[in-house]
Amino acid sequence: CGIIGILGQTPVAPLLVDGLKRLEYRGYDSAGIAVIEGGHLASLRAEGKLRNLEAKLAGNRKAGRIGIGHTRWATHGVPSERNAHPHLTERVAVVHNGIFENFRELRLELEAAGRVFSSDTDTEVMAHLVTANLADGMAPLAAVQAALARVRGAFALAFLFEGEDDLVIGARRGSPLAIGWGAGEMFLGSDGIALGPFTDEITYLDEGDVAVVTRAGAVIHDETGRVVERPVTRTHGNTYVADKGNHRHFMVKEIHEQPEVTGRTLAHYLDLAEGRARPPEGIDFSRIDRLSITACGTAFYAGFVAKYWFERFARLPVDIDIASEFRYREQPLSKDGLAIVISQSGETADTLASLRYARVEGQRIAAVVNVRESTIAREADVVLPILAGPEIGVASTKAFTAQLAVLAATAIAAGRARGSIDDVEEARLVAAFSEVPRLMHEALRLEGQIEALARDLAKVKHCLYLGRGTSYPIALEGALKLKEISYIHAEGYAAGELKHGPIALIDEEMPVVVIAPFDRVFEKTVSNMQEVAARGGRIILVTDRKGAEAAAIDAAATIILPEMPASVTPLVYSIPVQLLAYHTAVFMGTDVDQPRNLAKSVTVE
Ligand code: G6P
Repeated sequence: CGIIGILGQTPVAPLLVDGLKRLEYRGYDSAGIAVIEGGHLASLRAEGKLRNLEAKLAGNRKAGRIGIGHTRWATHGVPSERNAHPHLTERVAVVHNGIFENFRELRLELEAAGRVFSSDTDTEVMAHLVTANLADGMAPLAAVQAALARVRGAFALAFLFEGEDDLVIGARRGSPLAIGWGAGEMFLGSDGIALGPFTDEITYLDEGDVAVVTRAGAVIHDETGRVVERPVTRTHGNTYVADKGNHRHFMVKEIHEQPEVTGRTLAHYLDLAEGRARPPEGIDFSRIDRLSITACGTAFYAGFVAKYWFERFARLPVDIDIASEFRYREQPLSKDGLAIVISQSGETADTLASLRYARVEGQRIAAVVNVRESTIAREADVVLPILAGPEIGVASTKAFTAQLAVLAATAIAAGRARGSIDDVEEARLVAAFSEVPRLMHEALRLEGQIEALARDLAKVKHCLYLGRGTSYPIALEGALKLKEISYIHAEGYAAGELKHGPIALIDEEMPVVVIAPFDRVFEKTVSNMQEVAARGGRIILVTDRKGAEAAAIDAAATIILPEMPASVTPLVYSIPVQLLAYHTAVFMGTDVDQPRNLAKSVTVE
C-alpha cells in the first residue's frame, strides 16, 4: 500500500526501492517496480519483503531513468509475484492503492472483448481499460480519465506508458498521493515520508485530481478535467530520517518517545502554568448535546477511554462506535451533535466514510489526527492534531497515548464550557495530567521486569486482559497489541463481564493480565481477580503499591506503577501493556514493526 514514481536523470530502480523502503512502515506483502528501458516497459516484482526485490534487481539491473514502484497489501488475490504491482499490458504499467469495487463486471467485459488477464487483482482492470482506450486512439491523459470514469471505489494510481520516456500520470480518489518537485527531476509518492530523500517541495493532490508529470513539472487536472493550481508545501521530510536510533525496532523507539510526545501534546492543549485547558477553537461545547466518537483499531480504544472522560468531566452523553459499523448503521444523530473521528493516518477508509456520514447528518466534526495534510483533517471542521511525529511501527503506541492526551484535554475544556467542572477542579485535573510525562518515565523503568515476564508469555497460546472503568479499554488495547504483533490469541474483557462467559476459559494454563490501579472500582476488580485465582489462572497484576497491598492475592507477577490520580491512569498504564506485547513478540521472533497481514493505514473497506 505504497506508491512511488520517479522521473530522473540517472537509473531510477535503486531510488525506487529506497522510496519504497520508506513506505515499508505501512505494511505490505509484495513489491515491484516498472521502468522504461530502451523505450519499452520492463518490470520486476517479488513476493515478500523488499530484500527479495533487491536480490532480483541485483541479478537483473535496470537502466531506465523513469519508473514507478509499489508495495502491496493484498486485498483481491493472495500475496504472490503474479499479483504484485505494477500490472503491465503491452501499452501501460500501473500501480494502485485502494480497491475498485466494480472490478468483476469490468473484468468480464474486458475478457469478453478478448483481453487476457494475468493476475487475480482488481488493479489489472485499470491497466486493460487504459490500454483499450489507447488502442482506440486516445492520448494518455484522456485514456486515463476515461478509464477513471468507469471505476468505483477509493484509490490512488500511478501510470507509466510504453514508448513515453518523460511521462508519469498520477490520480487520486480516496487514497493520498503527493507530487515532489526537483530540478529536472520529478517525483510521485503516497506521502511526504516516501519523498523525503528526494525533495522537500511537495504538492498534495486533492480528491479527484489527475496529475500529468514530466521532468519539466506537473500539470494537475481536477475531477472535471480543468487545469488547477495546487499549493506547494515545504516539508521537513529530508530532516526526518526513518531511523531507529539505538533501538532494535521502531515500535520500542516509539514506546520510549511517549513521555516526550505526550508532554508536547499536553502542553499544546493545556495551559499548565494557569491550570487551564485551552478551549478548542471552533467547538462550543455548551451548545452540544451529544457526542459520537468513531474510529478503528487502536484509535477506537482511545475514543473508548475518552467516552469515560467526556461523560465524567463534561456530563456529555457519548456514543462510541467502530467506524465500519457507524457508517452503515443509520443511527439517528442529534441536531446539536458533535462527531469526533480519531485517526493516526487520517486516511482510514471507514473512518473517513463515518466523517462523511456525520456531515450529511448535520454534525459538527472534529478530527484527532497525526497527519495534518490527511483527507480526514481536510474534511473536518476542526482539526485537533496529536503532536506525535511520524509513527512507523504498524502497531500504534505513541499515537495512541497522544490521542488520549488530546481527548483528555478536550474533555476538560468541555467540562469547563458546560459548567460541570469549576476552576478548582479544572486546575486539579490539569495538574494531574501535567505529571503524566514523569509517570511515563517511571513506567518505562519497569521494562526489565516486563521483559522477564514476556519470556513466559511467549510460551502461551491464549491470554486474557481484564479491566474496569477506563482500564477496560486499556485491557482491550493490551489484547490487541499482543495479538497483532506476537500472534498470540488474546482477548480483552470488562472485568465484571468475566463471569458471564470467559471464566469458562480459565485453567492453570491461562495467563490473565489484570489492569487495576487503586481507584474507585479497584475492589470490584479484585473480586473478579479472586474468581480467576480460585480457578488456578495465572494472574499478572498491573497496579500500584496500594493496589498490590490491598489485593492480597497470589499473583504470578505484579507490576507496580507509581500512584497517580485515577483520571490519568489510561495514559500511564498503556506503557506496561505495550512493553509486554513488544517483548513477547521479540521472544516469539515475529516481524514486530511490520506484523503479517497488517497495514499501517487501511484505505479499503
Ligand atoms: C490499522 C493499523 C492500526 C490502527 C488502525 C486505525 O489497522 O494497523 O494500528 O489503529 O489501522 O488507523 P488510523 O490511522 O485510522 O488511526
